[in-house]
Amino acid sequence: MSKEINIPEIIESKRDQYPVAAATVERFFNESIVLLRKQMEFSLRERGDYFWPLAEKILTIDQNLGGDPIKALLEYTLAFLREQASFMKTGNYRYDTDSFNDAFAEVYDNPDVMENFYLEGLLVTHVFWPIHLDMHRFFEDHFLSAITTEKSIGAEFGFGHGLYLYEILKKFPDTYALGFDISKYSLSYAQRLLEKNGIAKDRFSLDLGDVRQPLALESNSLDWCVFAEVLEHIPNPKEALTEISRCLNPNGHVFITTAINSNALDHLWHFNNMDEVTDMLSSANLQIVSSVELPLSNYDSKTKDPTIDCAFVCTPTK
Ligand SMILES: C[S@@+](CC[C@H](N)C(=O)[O-])C[C@H]1O[C@@H](n2cnc3c(N)ncnc32)[C@H](O)[C@@H]1O
Repeated sequence: MSKEINIPEIIESKRDQYPVAAATVERFFNESIVLLRKQMEFSLRERGDYFWPLAEKILTIDQNLGGDPIKALLEYTLAFLREQASFMKTGNYRYDTDSFNDAFAEVYDNPDVMENFYLEGLLVTHVFWPIHLDMHRFFEDHFLSAITTEKSIGAEFGFGHGLYLYEILKKFPDTYALGFDISKYSLSYAQRLLEKNGIAKDRFSLDLGDVRQPLALESNSLDWCVFAEVLEHIPNPKEALTEISRCLNPNGHVFITTAINSNALDHLWHFNNMDEVTDMLSSANLQIVSSVELPLSNYDSKTKDPTIDCAFVCTPTK
């Protein structure tokens, strides 16, 4: 039996310490949809200690960008639910491995999607989707702790909103970060996110780049990499992983996430189970140091949605 919680009382008790989060969570309960409200109750009941400081951090970042987190979250979630409902009916993702150019035109190169809700919506799912909250916790506990050289250099490929880059640059003041993304909208959003939230311009360099192509980086040149929620978006995920393994130094680590049986506006590589992901990692010269498997059913025992998110910290096998 899950314990009952009094939402208004919890919000009130957090208002002094976490004012931005408390005000946004209050708005969320007034304006959100039932499914998300239930998931949020789960987070408040089961993840409270972790939830509030992370929510304050991410929602303050969003506020500094002049965002409207609830609007973006709802649009992003409804788009995801529509795609997932279609997948559960047909067994097919929106795109296949021959149609990356369509995904590029309709999503990554489309300001109505990227600037309207995609980038901000995805950013705030780290607060409002418990599955992404747990993913974020895994990132902090298993990946940030694996970066042992304070004076490191690393890269994120497909950085989107740029939250992971922010976390790394904030925690390690002597670290330098490179970032590559195919979308000019991701590029300008992440640049703004970093600059408006106190990361000095000379600590990072973000550029357009396409991970379907060989990376223009020296072998063994990176101490860390992030490759989160990109594998399922590209037609050649194994080649991209092999390139990342090549660029990492032998003691370096890469944080990787992907989604299994989970459609979206821009998914085209369909992983059917965890073994397909782990087999791909090892065939791309990556050894798993730690991993987490997060089925949506962990958060809602009645759901028929087969989504499983998974995250890994890997090191190259050289
Ligand atoms: C789902 S978002 C992930 C953002 C962020 N990494 C996260 O985990 O929330 C996917 C990102 O990958 C980028 N992307 C898609 N295909 C790419 C490619 N071939 N090369 C580089 N970036 C790509 C998109 O523009 C988008 O910003």
